[in-house]
Amino acid sequence: MNGSASPLQIVVLLSGSGTTLQAIIDEMQAGNINVEIKAVISDQSQATGLTRAENAGIETCALSPRDYPDRQGFDHALASCIDRYKPQYIVLAGFMRILGKSFVERFAGKILNIHPSLLPRFRGLDTYARVLEAGDAEHGTSVHFVTAELDGGPLIMQSRVKVLEGDDEESLSARVKERERKMYPAVLDMIAAKRIEMKDGQAWLDNQPLDHPLEFDPSK
Ligand code: GAR
Repeated sequence: MNGSASPLQIVVLLSGSGTTLQAIIDEMQAGNINVEIKAVISDQSQATGLTRAENAGIETCALSPRDYPDRQGFDHALASCIDRYKPQYIVLAGFMRILGKSFVERFAGKILNIHPSLLPRFRGLDTYARVLEAGDAEHGTSVHFVTAELDGGPLIMQSRVKVLEGDDEESLSARVKERERKMYPAVLDMIAAKRIEMKDGQAWLDNQPLDHPLEFDPSK
């Protein structure tokens, strides 16, 4: 963990099982990262991730897109909910909804996402099926700042995983997700230590613009 600075206050957004959230909670509770989760918010009221949050004593909130006439209405309600917790960063952990331009601009440089591919390759959905179909030798995962361009914001860190002979979506995703569970908390801890930020539309590390995403070292 980095220094004695106050913990990075985050709100986590998710839609599904929340194994990535669980990894952040576990690292937090073990005292390995300087992060505090103020709330977990979902667009799916039945998301298992919400139960994981409740089990950890974290406040939760579910907002159903069906209750709003359009994307703007939902995004506005989501922003109001987030504002109640005054987080420093919004952390997307399997949040499977596109956020509109005005939402992203309102929290510019303060939204992070993890995406299961070596961006800019395979933006969007079904990355495992697509990488297997393409016959690539490697796949992986990326953490990036969110901008209005889908999966297109400045990259912070990536982790590479070899595609093995006989891999299917399940086996490949298991290995990628294992990396994600280590890499995302590590990035959050670097942000807590004020080593990483977004400035002038770019990711910066230690006051230098990052020309290439950092490579995650899984042995650490
Ligand atoms: C993670 O693998 C994450 O990379 C992916 O959703 C999964 C969430 O799993 N995110 C995206 O595909 C975003 N485009 P989880 O619910 O078990 O944490």
